[in-house]
Amino acid sequence: MSRNSNEWKERPPFPQTHYVNTEIYTSEQIFREEQAKIFGKCWIIACHESELPGAYDFRTFNHPSGAPLIVIRGEDGTVRSFYNICPHRGNLLLYDPVGNAKRITCIFHAWSFNAKGDCIDISRAKQGYQDRFECKDAGLREVKTEIGYGGFVWVNVDDDSCSLKEYIGDALGLLEANLDQPLEVFHYHKAVVNTNYKLWHDTNSEFYHDYMHYFNRITGMIQPGYFDRKYTGYPNGHASVGSMSIKYDAYEGSAQRGVGWPGLAPGGWVLIDIFPGMTYNLRTSVLRMDTAIPLGPDKVVIEFRGLGLKSDTPEQRAERIRDHNTIWGPFGRNLHEDLLGVHGQGLAMRERSDSHWVLHGREENQTIHDEVGMRHFYAEWGHRMGRSASVPSTEASPAT
Ligand code: FES
Ligand SMILES: [Fe+2]
Repeated sequence: MSRNSNEWKERPPFPQTHYVNTEIYTSEQIFREEQAKIFGKCWIIACHESELPGAYDFRTFNHPSGAPLIVIRGEDGTVRSFYNICPHRGNLLLYDPVGNAKRITCIFHAWSFNAKGDCIDISRAKQGYQDRFECKDAGLREVKTEIGYGGFVWVNVDDDSCSLKEYIGDALGLLEANLDQPLEVFHYHKAVVNTNYKLWHDTNSEFYHDYMHYFNRITGMIQPGYFDRKYTGYPNGHASVGSMSIKYDAYEGSAQRGVGWPGLAPGGWVLIDIFPGMTYNLRTSVLRMDTAIPLGPDKVVIEFRGLGLKSDTPEQRAERIRDHNTIWGPFGRNLHEDLLGVHGQGLAMRERSDSHWVLHGREENQTIHDEVGMRHFYAEWGHRMGRSASVPSTEASPAT
């Protein structure tokens, strides 16, 4: 039966854990709080070590807490991160997304820094500062950086955070045997979508939407084992979905995949969501890493990296690239269907003036169409935010 305006606002007949208020996807104020309480505290993937192969290679990264960062490999091979902000008068230091800089010189007044963040030159220092200030008194703000779990470069802007190992815990255990040799990014794709970053992560946390993917219905949903896949939640909001074997040859025109992955059964698939917006997706021959980097409550950059083994022969690499780009990457259909889903949610929520509810209420014994993955995410989100995702601001008691 259709709903009138009052009925439309009625809460779903579920416990509060089984729905959220759409305000969490649209509110500027909630986004600002997320920047401080979530992105300002969690470990976030900035890039992959293979994207900085040589000394002085750098990438710039717009950290979702709001700080622009430089990630740079030093002469000693160590990858470090810094605020991309000059300590003199706050100018942006590096503008290019990627490059090589033995010396980082600010264009404004020509102060220079090395790849360890030390200030190495202050123009006309003596004349202006006499003995009151010199290079040793200036330096870039360093950000905690660790490389791990497949060679990704993780950063944390909170100096007091736990270690990356503590943050991940056992969540990546299912992939442990698959990530023990050096990897290499062979493809990078970026989508800017007018939607909330959590909606993308939600899509990676529920598979009920396989109804949207013709390919997945044929290669996965109608194959034995699909409905046996179980969600496992881990501390800090991470979750894994157990492996299954995908029948790629069930899709008309698909050839059997010729290249596999160490430790993964042929046609295997392991997916692990890392809070608050990263997903490891290992399918047969390719690891795809999604990172959702919000630009605001209704705009997100989603980075997609396709990775193979550093030791690949040219033939193996060519096959991985073909598999990634034609099935799971930007020239496949799956990724676009997912993007259409979250784009549509963004459109509908932005246009909707009254807050409403989104259901996370499916229970199927924690198997693949159970929405427990999203519930697990929002339990952690609520814990970190000090508020429930299902209680609108108008009803929430003031934060203490
Ligand atoms: S702002 Fe960078 S040198 Fe002045
Ligand atoms: Fe999908």
